[in-house]
Order: sequence, then C-alpha cells, then structure tokens
Amino acid sequence: MKILVIGSGGREHAIVWKIAQSKKVEKIFCAPGNPGIVEIAECVNIKADDIEELKAFAIKEGIDLTVVGPEQPLAMGIVDEFEKAGLKIFGPSKNAAEIEGSKAFSKDLMQKYNIPTAAYKVFENADDAKEYAEKHHPPVVVKADGLAAGKGVFICPTMDETFLAVDIIMKEKAFGDAGNRVVIEEFLAGEEASFLAFTDGETVLPLASAQDHKAVYDDDKGPNTGGMGAYSPAPIITPSMQKKVMDEIMLPIVNAMRAEGRIFKGVLYAGLMLTKKGPKVLEFNARFGDPETQPILMRLKTDIVALFMAAIENRLKDIKLEWDKKTAVCVVMASEGYPGDYEKGKVINGLDNLKDMKDVFVFHAGTSVKDGRLVTNGGRVLGVTAIGTGIKRAIKNAYTAVEKINWDGVHYRRDIGAKAVSSR
Ligand code: AMP
Ligand code: GLY
Repeated sequence: MKILVIGSGGREHAIVWKIAQSKKVEKIFCAPGNPGIVEIAECVNIKADDIEELKAFAIKEGIDLTVVGPEQPLAMGIVDEFEKAGLKIFGPSKNAAEIEGSKAFSKDLMQKYNIPTAAYKVFENADDAKEYAEKHHPPVVVKADGLAAGKGVFICPTMDETFLAVDIIMKEKAFGDAGNRVVIEEFLAGEEASFLAFTDGETVLPLASAQDHKAVYDDDKGPNTGGMGAYSPAPIITPSMQKKVMDEIMLPIVNAMRAEGRIFKGVLYAGLMLTKKGPKVLEFNARFGDPETQPILMRLKTDIVALFMAAIENRLKDIKLEWDKKTAVCVVMASEGYPGDYEKGKVINGLDNLKDMKDVFVFHAGTSVKDGRLVTNGGRVLGVTAIGTGIKRAIKNAYTAVEKINWDGVHYRRDIGAKAVSSR
C-alpha cells in the first residue's frame, strides 16, 4: 500500500514510525513532514491545510490510505473532500470533527445526552460572560470556543483574572475567530487522564491509557501548553475506571454523534478529569493526542494499518489490540519561552549520542535543517520517548537520553511520569 500521513509534529512522526513497521506498506509519504520523518518517509512540501493540493497529490500518486494528524484539516473537511474523490482516508468528517472544533457544540451535546462534564454556559458577548462568571466562586475556567492549539483555556483563581481572560479571548481576539464565543465553566478538581479510542462510528476500541502534562513547568505550574510529556499506561485508569469511562462517556458520545447524524470515525480522544464524583469530560478531540501518541504507539503491537482500514471499513468489532506490557514515557524538549514567544534556529547537539540506546526513540516536532545542521524550529522541538519495565525504568531511560541532548535555551520538565510513581 501507498500511505500518506498529513502533519509535521511529534504525533505524525510516531504515526509514520508505526506505519513503517507494517508489512502492508510499500511506500509512505508525509505532508509536510519534518527532518525526523524524512528518515522513514518521503516528505512532500504541501501544507497540512492545503486540502486541494493534498487531494491532487493523493490522486496523482495513487495513495491507498491517507491518515490525518492535526485538527485543522479535519475541521476544514479534508475527509469529506477525499471521500468525494473516492480516496480512502482515516479521520472524522467535518461535521463530526466539530466535537473538537467547537467547545460550545461539544458541551451542548454532552448536556443533551447526559455525559458527565463541568457545568457551563456559552456567551457571545464579553459583558454577559463576566456577569455570569461573577455569580460563581473562583476558580473559574474560561475557554475560547474554537481551536486554539491547546492555549485557549484559562484557569482563573480570581475574578480579575477571569475578566482579563474573557477580554483576551473576546476583545483582544488573541485566538482570532476562535474567540467569537466563550465558554465559562465550573472548575473541576482531580487528576487528569487522556482516553483515546478508535471508532468506526459504532464499535469503540480503547487504546492504552495515557497521561499528558499540560503545564509548562514542573508540578503543573505555569501556563498550559500543547503537552510537555506523557506516559502510558496511566495506572490511575484501573480496569474498573476504564469500564466506567467506556460505559458513561465513550459509548454514549459515539452513539450520540450517530443519533445527531454526525457519525464519528477515527480516533476520538476524551480529556478527562477524574473527580471524586467520577470521571468527567474536559474536552473531546477528534484526533490522536500529541504527545500521548508517542508513548501509546511505542507500546502498540497490532499492525496500525490494519486498524486504520478496519475503522474505515466498519470492521473494528473484529479487532483485538495487543500491547507491550512495558511502560513508555515521552519527555518533550521545548524552546525556552514556549508557549509564549521563543527563538528559533538554535543548533541541536547530541542526537548522535543516542544511536546505541535501543529502548529510546526521538520523535521530531519543531525541527528543521539549516546549513546541514539540525536546528530548532518550533515551541515543542523533540519528544524523547523511552520504553522500560515499569514506570521508574522508563523514566530513567527517557531522562538518560534527554540529558545527552542540548541546545541554547532548551527547556523540559523534570517530572514527567512522577505522578504514576507516587500513585503506585
Ligand atoms: P481543554 O483544552 O478544554 O482540555 O483544557 C486544557 C486544560 O485546562 C485541561 O487539560 C485541564 O488541565 C484544564 N481544564 C480545562 N477545563 C477545566 C475545568 N473545568 N476544571 C479544571 N481544569 C480544567
Ligand atoms: N496533548 C493534548 C492534545 O493533543 O490535545
């Protein structure tokens, strides 16, 4: 088969890396890809949201399967366009991807179908949002309605900060049109987990559990990022919790989407808060998580191409997933300043030192090649992912590798996976 993967981050590098292990594959393309991906696939210089060019490329090359990484092309309707052209593509249609593209839509849907989530209200006007927020005790959670790369959510410990967050989203338009509406939400306390599942619109096949680390600094301090590291499995998702999440959240939401005429096919990702009153949904994503995908796919033994095809062809009920029992940990190495402003073009040293470490793989995210040298080119630069027997060994393997890599202004969290150790 000829396969095209769309995207250029660590998640897409992991997807390409896993696809490359499939016996079904004859050639992999990635658009636009990155300097890590280029080692295992042919990178094509087409942007992830240039749907027309991507479609023309897929037709010209006779691509048998396209896999979409990021949310933007899904929200723009890439799956509908490819299907109209008779091309096979893995991911949700435009109207199904709205579950991620609009927080207001997803909250209303959860309310309608009694899926546990934080109490909320949606506003189109900043003054109304503030008036409502004022009636609640801080902390209050303020969210831009639309896509904001994980950065449109503010946890506000005071009312002043709540008002400021509403203004940043609705008046300053820091996230553009994503801030036309704002969601004001109840603060939920608890531990977070990422719950990802393949679905063909009917069968829901959960992937191994994982936990992300959203905040930029250790101990979950500082602003939220796209994710600073992840590990799998997450011991907090016990078998009984997994069943609860499936019965109360995943199956009901997939059925709800079908009932609404928005059949969801692809990877559905629930960001969960495990509260004292049970698991509640923080958000749904219509795609693989980044960086959760890196440790999850490192543990997946099943042929991923067979899985993609089964989801497209409504055959997931016949599939059983197999997992490596070991733990995988991904530490994201980022540019100083991220998720705010940061400099690019810093020379990355030390990757050659890792060649002999067989339990480690370095997934590239924001890298590029300049004058023959690998340099930083984004906020999240590398996802150093290691596997090991037990969480402690996996953490040690990951950080042993991380410490061999450096550049001017490198930043990473030192506590990825620590929560899994303390919960043992
Ligand atoms: P979201 O993009 O909606 O998942 O929000 C990003 C992050 O903000 C989550 O991973 C949580 O850490 C935090 N968050 C979002 N909503 C809430 C909430 N209602 N209560 C507490 N924390 C939240
Ligand atoms: N790691 C969070 C996300 O992919 O949205």
